[in-house]
Amino acid sequence: MTHELAPRIAPDISTLFAEREADRYDMHSRHLNEQMVRVLRTIGYDVQFRRGTGPYLFDAAGERYLDLLSGFGVFGIGRNHPVLRDALKDVLDSDLPNLVQLDVSTLAGILAERLLAHVPYLDKVFFANSGAEAVEAAIKFARTATGRPGLVFCDHAFHGLTNGALSLNGDAVFRDGFEPLLPDCVRVPFNDLAALERALASRRVAAFVVEPIQGKGVNMPAPGYLQAAAELCRRHGTLLVADEIQTGLGRTGRFLAVEHWNVEPDMVLLSKSLSGGHVPSSAVLMRRHIFEKMFDRMDRAVVHGSTFAKNDLAMAAGIATLDVIEQERLIDRAARMGDRLLRELTAMVPRYEMLREVRGKGLMIGIEFGAPASLRLKASWSVVETASKGLFCQLITIPLFKEHKILCQVAGHASHTIKLIPAFVITDDDCDWIVRAFDETIAGSHRVPGAVWSLGKTLIGHAARGRKPVRTFGSARQETPANT
Ligand SMILES: Cc1ncc(COP(=O)(O)O)c(C=O)c1O
Repeated sequence: MTHELAPRIAPDISTLFAEREADRYDMHSRHLNEQMVRVLRTIGYDVQFRRGTGPYLFDAAGERYLDLLSGFGVFGIGRNHPVLRDALKDVLDSDLPNLVQLDVSTLAGILAERLLAHVPYLDKVFFANSGAEAVEAAIKFARTATGRPGLVFCDHAFHGLTNGALSLNGDAVFRDGFEPLLPDCVRVPFNDLAALERALASRRVAAFVVEPIQGKGVNMPAPGYLQAAAELCRRHGTLLVADEIQTGLGRTGRFLAVEHWNVEPDMVLLSKSLSGGHVPSSAVLMRRHIFEKMFDRMDRAVVHGSTFAKNDLAMAAGIATLDVIEQERLIDRAARMGDRLLRELTAMVPRYEMLREVRGKGLMIGIEFGAPASLRLKASWSVVETASKGLFCQLITIPLFKEHKILCQVAGHASHTIKLIPAFVITDDDCDWIVRAFDETIAGSHRVPGAVWSLGKTLIGHAARGRKPVRTFGSARQETPANT
């Protein structure tokens, strides 16, 4: 029987979703990650999101939320963008010759051409399925291209959680319990050129892998750091790999974040926004000589690869995403909205003693808090922070969520920085919403006694009763959305 004649009993996914959505927490407790459910229930985020569009989410009660987390940064063009939806439907309706494997993909050719047009000094593209998989590929490309084993990475770096990528992770919380990882990986402090030079001097280092702006903490490169690092790499025969998985495709107000500092890496890693959020996808852009060292003979044509990497849905999602970014001028928009948010949030710093700094580029913004000077706040801060370092930020993010319907994350384990990575499509009204919500919430945190500090006591109570999520929220990936 051909598939045209088969009876059509396809599941109606939206009906299935509607029928079972109320069970989601129970299903996850039973069959998936119970700790995640405990986290959500403890902090009151179990609101049963039902719908997403653009930068907004809607819960079971019909409340609209402004999503400043955007699925860890994947919904650059917004959720469920109609152009992306049409592109994906078109693929499904077209009976394309997907994943023939003993052919080459037309859509992959188009997407590679389109990506390289934005990065003209690079020549070749390798596609993969996720950020971590792009990092794994970069490690292999760098080692085989240079014939060297070494890899240098930075303190606080986050490049993914597979074994190779984890070997380049600068945070013990992620590494503990999984070592030994890859040998010959050397950690250097971010922004420390002398340490980088010492590490590269061995001339055994294949690649320096670095996020132009670190996702954990939203740490900015010091002026001149990335250019000088690129020069050091060139001098020592090391490849510079820019992990732009989070920063790339317009998030920082340029197609690549490295453009802010006029740096041309040897490899650039892209993912997150590339997929439009709907189909896992990643790309490694690189110089020709690196690519050709890996694929140097016909019998090595498949020496590295991944079955689903160039699948038509992912490639079409990438093409449609680039179209939307170009047609809606979303890179300019990210720059404009980001400048506005940076300016208006920074203007609050002198008014609030616990608000230390606002930093970032485009729509990747870190809002950092720190210990107060006044006695009246000092005692409360110290109770909360002694119970769990970084807990103060949860006292900001939870009221932002509950009272202002803003979803955002803490920028890492024990961090005092809240990170904003919204969709590039946010509007001036959304910026007003963000600024007003932060202003009111931060003002509330400067009142003692007050609701914010009572929340602190409640969370500490949960932690004391062994409900670990309070401590780990913002740290372990499996347990928390506070992690990219
Ligand atoms: C800079 C960076 N690199 C790599 C990754 C890993 O990507 P994935 O979670 O798709 O494996 C992330 C994810 O947060 C990231 O932010």
